[in-house]
Amino acid sequence: MEKKRIGVLTGGGDCAGLNPAIKWVVKTALDDRLQKMRKIEYEVVGIRDGWKGLVEPEGDQEAPAPRIYTLTEEMVRTWDRYGGTILGTSRTNPFDSKKDRSKIVLENIERYRFDFLVAIGGEDTLGVAHKLYLEGVKVVGIPKTIDKDLSGTDYTLGFETALNVITEEIDRLRTTAGSHRRIFVVETMGRHAGWLALEGGESSGAYIILIPEYDFEMEKVNELVFEGRKKGARYDIIVVAEGAKSSGSSEISKDEGVDSFGHKALGGIGEYLAKEISSTTKIETRSISLSHLQRGGAPCAYDRRMGRYFGIAAIDLIVNEDFGKMVSYRNGTITSVQLKEAIGRLNLVDIKTQYDTERYNGRRTILGA
Ligand code: F6P
Repeated sequence: MEKKRIGVLTGGGDCAGLNPAIKWVVKTALDDRLQKMRKIEYEVVGIRDGWKGLVEPEGDQEAPAPRIYTLTEEMVRTWDRYGGTILGTSRTNPFDSKKDRSKIVLENIERYRFDFLVAIGGEDTLGVAHKLYLEGVKVVGIPKTIDKDLSGTDYTLGFETALNVITEEIDRLRTTAGSHRRIFVVETMGRHAGWLALEGGESSGAYIILIPEYDFEMEKVNELVFEGRKKGARYDIIVVAEGAKSSGSSEISKDEGVDSFGHKALGGIGEYLAKEISSTTKIETRSISLSHLQRGGAPCAYDRRMGRYFGIAAIDLIVNEDFGKMVSYRNGTITSVQLKEAIGRLNLVDIKTQYDTERYNGRRTILGA
């Protein structure tokens, strides 16, 4: 039987759902019944720490052990229960113009005899996958990011688990906020996309939701708070996306620097809002950033299932020799799109159909805009 080697890696920010996807890449490739049908024997090899694993496969000072190792069904059997990524991840960009290491990656793909690669990641990791594809590498992608900002798919791994975290934490905040008649401003992640704030705010019944796709007016936020109190609200939950900003100002970042993909570390809008609200309304206001809690914990049932379906579909693409594609979930069906389509532009909230610009909240009608 013909033998082929598949390398699998996870890149970018971790999230729940990565391990289920890895498990199902391995199980599908090694399935003995399917192997007989395909007449190809696959070996699946884990690549640790994202693209760093192909830049420094033998390890480095930080991680002195080899980053390439064969995965067996027995090894991955329980992986779908665990959060994060057992393969490890990094934000390594081999095509960084300041330090281009793409040739090293191409050499290592040859050296380690990878016939195919499965890259599990967001915009950045899949952007690298696409560039490698243009260099002739037979690569397929699996979408993951709690930000849900990849185009070409209705779902990215990690999103639902992150929504569950937001909802559960806000449930906890409600009891303490209510006891003290306080306002709580909850900052979510999401970069330039408002999905986590919008859908997390909707799931938890937040009073105000502020997203990057629509600049808010500070005055309007305060007016809404007064209005709610007049109607009898004892406390308020305001959810704000880290990338949201008031009109005329820019996003708030933690520091000036950018990572190797050119992203700023956003954060701080929640604290800013809390100060502004309390100074005008004189209502005690606290802020909390849910930060990396949103990426942590065990995958919810949905991420386990979607990881499974995406993992199976990635191997199907390889079997069909359909490279340069990302598996995707579209209108209730598992399908695939060109990697180029997935990374070309961000998938953002559509203000016209999904956001209420009067109430600063999710829309309350399904009728046309
Ligand atoms: O892209 C996922 C994400 O969690 C963003 O929502 C957030 O801005 C960023 O990663 C944080 O990255 P890091 O883990 O490097 O702080």
